[in-house]
Amino acid sequence: MDGNGRWAQNRGRNRSYGHQCGEKPVREVVETACHLNIGTLTLFAFSSDNWMRPSDEVTSLMHLFKSFLKLERWKCRSHGVRINVIGRRDRLGPSLREAVEAAERFTSGCRRMHLRIAVDYSARDSILEAVSLGRLGASPTRREFSSLLNLAIHSDPPAPDVDLLIRTGDTQRLSDFMLWECAYAEMIFVHGMWPDFRGRDLTKALEEFNQRERRFGRISCPPHKITGHRA
Ligand code: IPE
Ligand code: MG
Repeated sequence: MDGNGRWAQNRGRNRSYGHQCGEKPVREVVETACHLNIGTLTLFAFSSDNWMRPSDEVTSLMHLFKSFLKLERWKCRSHGVRINVIGRRDRLGPSLREAVEAAERFTSGCRRMHLRIAVDYSARDSILEAVSLGRLGASPTRREFSSLLNLAIHSDPPAPDVDLLIRTGDTQRLSDFMLWECAYAEMIFVHGMWPDFRGRDLTKALEEFNQRERRFGRISCPPHKITGHRA
């Protein structure tokens, strides 16, 4: 969800204002994803490298996460959305950790969609963490490694690989997001900044995804559409 800071600065406002305005698209995207029958939606909210930002920006982001979790858990539960914060937890403040755990508990019975919010997340660190769990045999399979990776990032339930990655903010890079899980992800890069992203933009991206032929290294593959089934 890239571009909040630039969006605000282009309007003569501070970066934290941009993050506040990034909440509306989050709510829209969660609602739209639910309607589109998406099984897992992961939002990259805060990367482990984002700790290097000025402390007032980090503090305002942490406040936003906390109030989002406290408020949205009600709506999420009523829509069958299971909230799950992925990434490291040990560096989050105690009140945010409490809010994370409360939101997860509160929505743990929801089955319609798995909403993963990545906070203090780094794909490379998650790979290192999975390895350091010490449960890998001498020659692990991809499936075994994936399940350890899910464990390392606290993904509950474990999630499948990424089918579609959408990045806003006019930037074409992965920035340490799901490096293992994106092995065959389709990527869509959006020119606009995150605060301008709307539910209909997600619908459009899914339409484009559904036009693409995914071959997974083969010559051809049965069509793999997101809409209409759980993906
Ligand atoms: C939001 O966009 C993503 C977060 C890390 C919270 P940015 O804060 O990266 O905005 P830009 O890229 O500086 O415009
Ligand atoms: Mg950015």
